Amino acid sequence: MSASTAATPIGIHDLELATSHHAVDLGDLAHSNGTDPAKYRQGLGQDEFSFPAPDEDIITMGAAAALPIIERHGFDGIRTLLFATESGVDQSKAAGVSVQRLLGLPNHVRVVEFKQACYGGTAALQAAVGIVSRSPGERVLVISSDVARYLLDSPGEPTQGAGAVAMLIAANPALVEIEAAAGLFTDDVDDFWRPNDSTTAVVDGKLSVSAYLDALEGSWNDLQAQGGPGIDEIDRILYHQPFTKMAKKAQGHLAAVTGAPLSLALPGDAVDETQRDTGLATGTLYNRRLGNSYTASVFAGLAALLHHDADLAGRRIGLFSYGSGSVSEFLTGIVQAGYFDATAAERVYAALDARAPLAVEAYRELHSANLPSSEDYETPRVTAGPFRFAGVKGQARQYERTRD
Ligand code: CAA
Repeated sequence: MSASTAATPIGIHDLELATSHHAVDLGDLAHSNGTDPAKYRQGLGQDEFSFPAPDEDIITMGAAAALPIIERHGFDGIRTLLFATESGVDQSKAAGVSVQRLLGLPNHVRVVEFKQACYGGTAALQAAVGIVSRSPGERVLVISSDVARYLLDSPGEPTQGAGAVAMLIAANPALVEIEAAAGLFTDDVDDFWRPNDSTTAVVDGKLSVSAYLDALEGSWNDLQAQGGPGIDEIDRILYHQPFTKMAKKAQGHLAAVTGAPLSLALPGDAVDETQRDTGLATGTLYNRRLGNSYTASVFAGLAALLHHDADLAGRRIGLFSYGSGSVSEFLTGIVQAGYFDATAAERVYAALDARAPLAVEAYRELHSANLPSSEDYETPRVTAGPFRFAGVKGQARQYERTRD
């Protein structure tokens, strides 16, 4: 099915994913802390998590995600760069300003950082759609990039991760037109937050799960009130994935709220043929290995769906974005003809497979090494990515391109 109300379609023209240099295997973590590995693999639906090298952060990952987009499309029309993150590296300067220089973007761009936990990327996407609606000749670069960090030995530890998704938002998009109706839900709840002096999130895990499901229901009901499509008019549904089992919980909740028989099968689960496959399992393929990438997570799910399902042209995707605290949104989009790129999944799997395995002791050491921003230092050369965080000089973070 296909539907659109916008005169000029606006949406996602291109999309790329990047991750960090290292990965931690959850079987190794389970072995080291005496947990049954099945709790992580089946109970949370996670196999690994990405972990940054000392010379990587949200800026190097974000720039790495955006680089192939710039190489394909150039700078034409780009006058705005929106950078969404939970794990910002400066209280004042937007991370995107460093990306502007690393990518060689012209000076005539507006750059700003969006923050609302994991929701910020969706807010940036909607702001970009607004900018392009006003000036259809413009294109907006939206980067969602995060390093998800919890305390060592805490329940959140196996749900850490790192990743970035860059998207080019344009008129007449090649991938997905974003539709006008959106369901919104904001609720002041202390389920997950990160005080200014803390490098790890504070979280009430059980409350966060129920707050997420309440927000899903609230934003779904608002989508209906706004005249958005009913459940039978949505072909695929993606969810924010702090861990992939959360998407299954969300799908179960939406099925209960709507009465629709939506499939709850994740990869490896038995499939009930009487239930409708909305791409739940396909949307988790990258996140199982990335871990939580906060603002990028739901777009990593979108990438997995677009890269693996060749039968989406003209179909409607629903996308639920949740940012603790909390702000959430349920939006929909129509996949455009010609969107499928058979090589895209290969590129992502190559990046995931190329990550250097990190033994648990080495990971714990890196996790504990929080270098002060008040002292100058140089980072070791570790990353194989196109950009690196070189260290701190005069209290300012230094970034460089590793290759031309
Ligand atoms: N074999 C198979 N499964 C097992 C198992 C075993 N041996 N042992 C336990 N499990 C299952 C449990 O039954 C449970 O499954 P269900 O949820 O389906 O019942 C699952 O594994 C997890 O077990 P617990 O609930 O006991 O796990 P926990 O309490 O140690 O931690 C958590 C779970 C609270 C989610 C924790 O990982 C956490 O705090 N994570 C960070 C917060 C988070 O991700 N919240 C999600 C919503 S908030 C959000 O989305 C924003 C964001 O990005 C942070």
